[in-house]
Amino acid sequence: MNIVSPSILSADFANLSDELKRIRTAQWIHIDVMDGCFVPNITVGLPVVSCIRRATERFLDVHLMIQDPAYYGPLFAKAGADMVCFHVEAAENPAAVIEAIHRAGAQAGAALKPGTPPEQVFPLLEKAEMVLVMTVEPGFGGQSFMPEVLPKIRAIRREADSRGVKPLIQVDGGINLQTAQVCVEAGADVLVAGSYVFGSPDPEQAVRLLQSV
Ligand code: DX5
Ligand code: ZN
Repeated sequence: MNIVSPSILSADFANLSDELKRIRTAQWIHIDVMDGCFVPNITVGLPVVSCIRRATERFLDVHLMIQDPAYYGPLFAKAGADMVCFHVEAAENPAAVIEAIHRAGAQAGAALKPGTPPEQVFPLLEKAEMVLVMTVEPGFGGQSFMPEVLPKIRAIRREADSRGVKPLIQVDGGINLQTAQVCVEAGADVLVAGSYVFGSPDPEQAVRLLQSV
């Protein structure tokens, strides 16, 4: 079964606890943190992650689209994230960021924008629990999937296999039943979906369908 991580960016932020009840079938919850600098949008920060932590036992998958992940990554771990995923493009020393997140008690993920080559995460494959391959430009929900990113998923899976490690590979952006299928075939294990899940009349069923593509 694929892991499905609905992105609450597409939820009603004024009714978050009700929104979490609409996706009870999902194993993870994806929280998009944006700072208006790394991406041209601003969303939520540490206090919201702490509140969601108190509201649910579910695995909190925090996607940082912010500058200075070396400073903020451990703070999000302490706020209750189970996984803190940061962009390698924003980190001077990604390996050190992973270690800092681990020391703060969370798993660590390394994210790549669509234009960033897969080789940038190769040295991190033994250290990170997850690699996030963005399938749209980060910043906004509801964009169209970029199929040109598929070879990157395959390249990362091949490289991880050759190193004898098994990091999770997450995809995020424009994921629906069709695009999820091609991503899973390419080697993805964790599917983030915002508009597809929250825009569905039956979000719990939308999650089930993604789990079994
Ligand atoms: C975009 C975010 C995504 C976004 C995905 O920068 O990282 O998590 O919510 O939304 P959809 O699934 O609508 O493309
Ligand atoms: Zn995201």
